[in-house]
Amino acid sequence: MTKTAVTKKILITSGDGIGPEVTAQGVKVLRAVAAQAGMDVTLTECLIGGAAIDATGDPLPADTWAQAQTADAILFGAAGGPKWDKGDFYQNPGKGLLKLRRDLKLFANLRLAKVFESAIDASPIKPERIRGADVLIVRELTGGIYFGKPRGRREEDGVQLALNTMVYRDWEVERIARKAFEIARLRGKRLTSVDKGNALEVGRFWRDIVERIGQEEYPDVALDSLYVDNAAMQIIRDPLQFDTMVMGNMFGDILSDAAGNLAGSLGMLPSASLGESHALYEPCHGSAPDIAGQDSANPMASILSVAMMFRYSFDRPDLETRIHDAVNTVLATHRTGDLMAEGKTRVGCSQMGDLVVQQLEAA
Ligand code: IPM
Ligand code: MG
Repeated sequence: MTKTAVTKKILITSGDGIGPEVTAQGVKVLRAVAAQAGMDVTLTECLIGGAAIDATGDPLPADTWAQAQTADAILFGAAGGPKWDKGDFYQNPGKGLLKLRRDLKLFANLRLAKVFESAIDASPIKPERIRGADVLIVRELTGGIYFGKPRGRREEDGVQLALNTMVYRDWEVERIARKAFEIARLRGKRLTSVDKGNALEVGRFWRDIVERIGQEEYPDVALDSLYVDNAAMQIIRDPLQFDTMVMGNMFGDILSDAAGNLAGSLGMLPSASLGESHALYEPCHGSAPDIAGQDSANPMASILSVAMMFRYSFDRPDLETRIHDAVNTVLATHRTGDLMAEGKTRVGCSQMGDLVVQQLEAA
């Protein structure tokens, strides 16, 4: 009996700034790889972020939310830009993404800082310090200071103040710790947990829980705990010491930008945001309004996010590897401006997407 192909439903939310142009390249690669693998995909596009505010007044319109709930995977671009910076904070473009993360319970954000050998010259760090670097940051995404209460702005005793609260519950730390240990087990069996346990109660609490889970459930994974300031220094100084890292929401936001730059540009940093039953994939760079619409952005983070989609949503790590290989081959000769170096041919965003597709089809 032949197996009936199951159609995968993918929601495309490209958003603002360079979001649409980089997402278009991710989509090209998605279609090409799915076609080669005989996978059936249907793509639906919906508004999010500033574009959605302009059209509907809401950064996450009802239609987008409805589609997101039934999609097998979501590919997101970027949100925000100067046009909306002065608008209502509670309806700002980034809130659409934050609501998706929170309401789809996408608690585990995986950000892959991988140095591609063919583009090692584009890194600001000496090649011998980063050759082979492949760090997976597991960022807790639905808790911590991003969502803790109380929060807000108010006046107290004639003084204006703003506050946010960093709070983690035991089950939130346990859940992300287990996820990170599971992932580390499939990688190099090394996990580094990052906290601020020398100053914050939350930090010591985090460390105690991660260490307990490690001892009780994952004795085969080597666990190390670092303070966040030290981790920020180490990740630049000696990234090869890291395999898988786990940390809270804000530390993950900050350290992943630092780690992303190891590969030469934040334009190389993809991510997967995973929950129990939903998944969203996005480049970690923002909307880069200064270069939007110029066809000059680096689309690799979107393309590499599609690679993560094949691994984590469709259980096809082989297709992730295929995309990585194509990216590595193309970067040997062609670069967008952010990775430009002598002897390479400079191409725009769209041409870069075409080159990766051509390479996939030739391989
Ligand atoms: C990221 C971004 C977001 C975050 C913003 C846009 C809210 O910086 O995905 O890293 O801080 O999580
Ligand atoms: Mg960020």
